[in-house]
Amino acid sequence: MNIRYVLGMVLISGAGFLVGCAEEKESTAPPPPAPPEFADKHMPAGWWTDPKIMAEGKEIFEGVKNIDVNCSSCHGKDGKPVKAGARDFRKGERMKLYSDSVWLWRISEGVPNTKMKAWKSKLNEEDRWKVMTYERNFGLPGMAYDVARQEWVPVADLGKPAPAASAPASAPGAAAPATDGKPAEPAPAKGGK
Ligand code: HEC
Repeated sequence: MNIRYVLGMVLISGAGFLVGCAEEKESTAPPPPAPPEFADKHMPAGWWTDPKIMAEGKEIFEGVKNIDVNCSSCHGKDGKPVKAGARDFRKGERMKLYSDSVWLWRISEGVPNTKMKAWKSKLNEEDRWKVMTYERNFGLPGMAYDVARQEWVPVADLGKPAPAASAPASAPGAAAPATDGKPAEPAPAKGGK
């Protein structure tokens, strides 16, 4: 009888230990809006389509320009993350939730409590825009953020008015994002300490 009790306790504590091992997952919640200091900052005119700017952005991204700034050491040279948890820029569906201002803000100030640190002390604002023109190619090639329309559009449509609301085709982003308004995933607390 006693031995049963002891065995039971061992099983229960073993199960509790397993529950506590739940791993953290990549957050799918949309990014928060840019704070006021960044909300009015936008890509300099002409930079989305300037191959020279993009080439400079690549050198920043890959740590060629400054060995202390190597985005690809986590985000991967081809945009496939090499460090766990790093944002996957190849996921265009997710990356189009980032306005140019939000993107700049995150590069500038980092993401709290993650390995993504603030880069504003190492990259001036122009360099932060440059690296963005390169990073966007992984998931949003040929696209640019249109400030007036508040959405990503093909670069050829940049600055043009939005197509009439009646035009149904060629509007892949029309469906409402299912995750919109969802709060950030809470950390798994089950069984943890
Ligand atoms: C040490 C690893 C590391 C390096 C180096 C790094 N990042 Fe990140 N980055 C991350 C991680 C981890 C995340 C995901 C943060 C999160 O959970 O939202 C991230 C997220 C991002 C995001 C999305 C922010 C968001 O809201 O999710 C952008 C944009 C970004 N990084 C750009 C850059 C740029 C540009 C550089 C180089 C100047 C860079 N990163 C260097 C680890 C890194």
